[in-house]
Amino acid sequence: METTYAWLWTLLAFSLTWMVFHLIKKKKAATKEAEAEAEERIDGAADVIIVGAGVAGAALAYALAKDGRRVQVIERDLKEPERFMGELMQPGGRLMLAQLGLEDCLEEIDAQEAKYLAIYKDGKHATLPFPNDNKFPYEPVGRTLRNGRLVQRLRKKAASLSNVHLEEGSVKSLIEERGVIKGVTYKNSTGEETTAFAPLTVVCDGCYSNLRRSLVDNNEEVLSYMVGYVTKNSRLEDPHSLHLILSKPLVCVIYQITSDEVRCVAEIPTDSIPSIANGEMSTFLKKTMAPQIPEIGNLREIFLKGIEEGLPEIKRTATKRMMVALSDTLILRNLLRPLPNLGNTKKVSEVVKSFYIIRKPMSATVNTLANVFSQVLIATTDEAREGMRQGCFNYLCNGDFRTNGIIALLGGMNPRPLTLVLHLVAITLTSMGHMLSPFPSPRRFWHSLRLFALALQMLGALLKDEGVKEMLIPTNAAAYRRTYMTTTK
Ligand SMILES: Cc1cc2nc3c(=O)[nH]c(=O)nc-3n(C[C@H](O)[C@H](O)[C@H](O)COP(=O)(O)OP(=O)(O)OC[C@H]3O[C@@H](n4cnc5c(N)ncnc54)[C@H](O)[C@@H]3O)c2cc1C
Ligand SMILES: *[C@@H]1O[C@H](CO)[C@@H](O)[C@H](O)[C@H]1NC(C)=O
Repeated sequence: METTYAWLWTLLAFSLTWMVFHLIKKKKAATKEAEAEAEERIDGAADVIIVGAGVAGAALAYALAKDGRRVQVIERDLKEPERFMGELMQPGGRLMLAQLGLEDCLEEIDAQEAKYLAIYKDGKHATLPFPNDNKFPYEPVGRTLRNGRLVQRLRKKAASLSNVHLEEGSVKSLIEERGVIKGVTYKNSTGEETTAFAPLTVVCDGCYSNLRRSLVDNNEEVLSYMVGYVTKNSRLEDPHSLHLILSKPLVCVIYQITSDEVRCVAEIPTDSIPSIANGEMSTFLKKTMAPQIPEIGNLREIFLKGIEEGLPEIKRTATKRMMVALSDTLILRNLLRPLPNLGNTKKVSEVVKSFYIIRKPMSATVNTLANVFSQVLIATTDEAREGMRQGCFNYLCNGDFRTNGIIALLGGMNPRPLTLVLHLVAITLTSMGHMLSPFPSPRRFWHSLRLFALALQMLGALLKDEGVKEMLIPTNAAAYRRTYMTTTK
């Protein structure tokens, strides 16, 4: 949810940023193949270079090294990152970690169990659990956490393998020869410019990447920003819920990230961000946002307390989730596993092609949810839009199978784009029904038609972005579930 808050399953929105995971290896004529293989099998050199050791890079390094590859990881800063992002690991993300053998990285970091989405609007609220869906082969509980601590655990676990070489260095450019990426140029820890070569280079440099700019277009519009701060020495009365408040102009989210720290986030449209430096932001949070935080438990008290404790951080909202990064890692590992030699350009190109198809159910579900919620949860004076916002809230609060269905989607427990599309259609129809009741005046009728048009337009755009076939044909999603979502508890 871009305009709304950050997490997917909190339904919130993130827009734009990208997690990155871009496998680079361009297609090359098959004739060059033998030659490439010969020159790339250098003794002592790495089989894979990974740029960036965030969640994706560190997990991939571990996974590939476990398969016997020699991995060189180049990370700009090996200190524990201090940042407000990636603080919710959905149940689906935990399953992926377990599949990669990395579930212990969620331990010893004082992560908190996330079992519910608590959603609030205009004095009403509902607490919705991640459903106990027996098709989901893992505990239906997520974790909220300090992202930096998780990243350090993952780095440490990867670096503990003897065939992983993790070093500090800042990658400046990719070395490309005849359309094939051969390696990277980087500044190493002594500040000297140097190079590294490997048959395969994977760039995992995060959502604020500049390397990626040369690889993919990323001209998404930034619709909103998230302002976040931590309230120290505090414990929510309900620490196992993500508290999502449908406020105006956008949502607020509050959750426990360690046993005594609470994260508070307010999402703010790009065109109206108060200045942090001159204190306007804290006035805005106190005067405009805080009164909208329900006085249920100690939510408002904790929201207010944190405003006094230091300057908030501000971030673009982002769409990609750790869950997608981990799912990508798992897919890539499985696809590369049968290749004896990563220098085989043709085979690796095929892997890349399959990778983009296989990842689709998870990435399309996550992106679509984020997009939809970001658009729908914006408070406006437009009656049609407001009808949709209310309809969405009602749909979520039902507490029946529909609610379970959508919470499972949000938690990455059921990566099926078609199911999501059906929910969106149902939300639209419910919202229209709601607008027309108790009796359909011409005005209401008109607004419900507009709502319908809006929904169609939104859905059309999403189908276009993600691909009609990918979204609507269920076989790919079924294959994904079969391969990546079965495991022992
Ligand atoms: C504001 C915000 C909130 C978010 N909230 C959530 C959330 O609640 N739940 C969730 O699941 N996801 C969330 N996400 C998304 C989540 O952060 C990403 O999915 C996840 O961090 C992706 O991991 P990554 O490894 O790709 O990137 P990162 O974790 O950003 O790691 C990239 C790494 O690459 C390094 N690097 C970058 N450039 C270079 C270079 N040139 N040379 C060497 N190293 C380099 C960086 O130092 C960094 O360590 C959020 C994102 C944002 C922006
Ligand atoms: C950094 O790169 C330079 C130039 O290649 C090299 O001489 C030096 O040993 C490297 N330093 C480290 C710490 O790797």
